[in-house]
Amino acid sequence: MAVTINTLREYKQKGEAFSALTSYDATFAQVVSEAGVDVILIGDSLGMVLQGNDSTLPVTMDELVYHTRCVAKGNRGSLVMADMPFMSYGTIPDALDNAAELMRAGAHMVKLEGTDWMKDTIHALSERGVPVCAHLGLTPQFVNKLGGYKVQGRNEKAAEAMIEHACELEAAGADAILLECVPAPLAARITQAVQAPVIGIGAGSGTDGQVLVVHDMLGLTTGHKPRFVKDFLAENASISEAIAAYHQAVKARTFPAEEHTFKA
Ligand code: KIV
Ligand code: NA
Repeated sequence: MAVTINTLREYKQKGEAFSALTSYDATFAQVVSEAGVDVILIGDSLGMVLQGNDSTLPVTMDELVYHTRCVAKGNRGSLVMADMPFMSYGTIPDALDNAAELMRAGAHMVKLEGTDWMKDTIHALSERGVPVCAHLGLTPQFVNKLGGYKVQGRNEKAAEAMIEHACELEAAGADAILLECVPAPLAARITQAVQAPVIGIGAGSGTDGQVLVVHDMLGLTTGHKPRFVKDFLAENASISEAIAAYHQAVKARTFPAEEHTFKA
């Protein structure tokens, strides 16, 4: 049976972890979904791993739509989530038009990076039938404002603000929250504070789901390898077995381990 936002909610209620991975083409999407991975993300990380840019900012709507179409064709029942690229949701009319394009291309949900300023945008999308995942913590589209790719929410003031933003965005209509590079105790607090499923990357084992960039979990990290990355191909004979092993490890909550986690 195809994974929907209801499936993710049920996982959360049952305390069962769920898995997510990025894909950018039909072949990977098929392998990832056939391995049982619950969510496929067409991440704007494609700007880095496919295009070779040093940030996600150059990625355009046309590119996201193209890769979403490719992924949707290969998908075999995972929930397809597409990133809205940098400045594609700067105004509500832009957000509606651009989200519509991604949904027409085969997305079931869109992901937006930001804090409380996104309330009205998320409300407008949600009211019109577009499920939204709100991405908090290290939001790579904000790298120039954050001054680098750094763990977020490390002091109590920033932690409180992140909890508040997650709650406000859920109240506005967000159907999922994604936390990137957040200390594990804070990610666990946010996961408790909201009803919506919370997906983590570099956020410890206390979130409802986990996500990684598929290239990273296959040992294809070029340059700096983040702490939260594990190479599953190193211990498995093929790409499809590595992806299945990742899915099992997430379900069993053996990934992420301590060594992949920011404690504070
Ligand atoms: O673009 C992406 O791949 C992402 C994940 C790292 C969460 O947003
Ligand atoms: Na992204």
